[in-house]
Amino acid sequence: MTEIIDGKAVASDIRTGLLDSIQTLTDAGTTPCLATVLMNDDPASATYVSMKHKDCKEVGIATRDIELDPETPAEELFDTIDDLNADPDVHGILVQMPLPDHVDEREVLRRIDPAKDVDGFHPENVGRLVAGNARYKPCTPHGVQKLLAAADVETEGADAVVVGRSNIVGKPMANLLIQKAEGGNATVTVCHSRTDDLAEKTRNADIVVAAAGVPEMVTGEMISEGTVVIDVGINRVETEDGSELVGDVDYDSVAEKASAITPVPGGVGPMTRAMLLWNTVKSAGDVADIDVDLP
Ligand code: GUN
Repeated sequence: MTEIIDGKAVASDIRTGLLDSIQTLTDAGTTPCLATVLMNDDPASATYVSMKHKDCKEVGIATRDIELDPETPAEELFDTIDDLNADPDVHGILVQMPLPDHVDEREVLRRIDPAKDVDGFHPENVGRLVAGNARYKPCTPHGVQKLLAAADVETEGADAVVVGRSNIVGKPMANLLIQKAEGGNATVTVCHSRTDDLAEKTRNADIVVAAAGVPEMVTGEMISEGTVVIDVGINRVETEDGSELVGDVDYDSVAEKASAITPVPGGVGPMTRAMLLWNTVKSAGDVADIDVDLP
């Protein structure tokens, strides 16, 4: 029997597990607060940001919602980030990507106070993650780690293949899986668009994390019986009746062989959002110098 790993349920447990800490912090006068900055016209980005606000409200995390016209000069965005950095009531800052072409994304990531960088994308936080001393684990790979734990998947000694080498998912995912720590200790192969014979790599894996951004590219014939398959992809594809969301995994053919698989939607997506709340609560706990319990 293939286990369908229910990301919605695990994310809901994480949110519930944060409630006591949010209450403790709020009672102590430090209500956790996430600020988002949206500076693009992409309707999907606007939807993601509004879902993040909804999640925060549900658990008692305060929010700031800043929208800038995509034509805004970069300096104005930097001023906005500086203001949020200086604001003691803001604990997490998320600048939604992508940014307009005239804005240098790397400069933006460097501008955010690393202590408030709940995405975990600032070079200081990337360095800490690689060094095994993470402050904020990036939300999607952290969410994958939590899903694997919830499904009782042993990473220690496992052969894991990460398909995709993005800064947001592939690279930090590989780093988390090789850490000498719980949820790590795997032997990791990172595959990408130039990988020779991808199927040979995935067929020899105990765990496959698909994060290439290519619809349904991981098929059943690339997977061996009993593999755990985590699908990070969210791709909107045209259908005869309009469009639908599919992952990077061809669900039907892979589910026939996998021992466990995440669906799209309802797998990794809800976990990414839950781990953003987690990082925001961690940040508020650090500021308040209160040792909060994190699920
Ligand atoms: N755009 C797509 N995913 C993300 C993310 O995880 N963080 C930010 N800041 N922007 C994104």
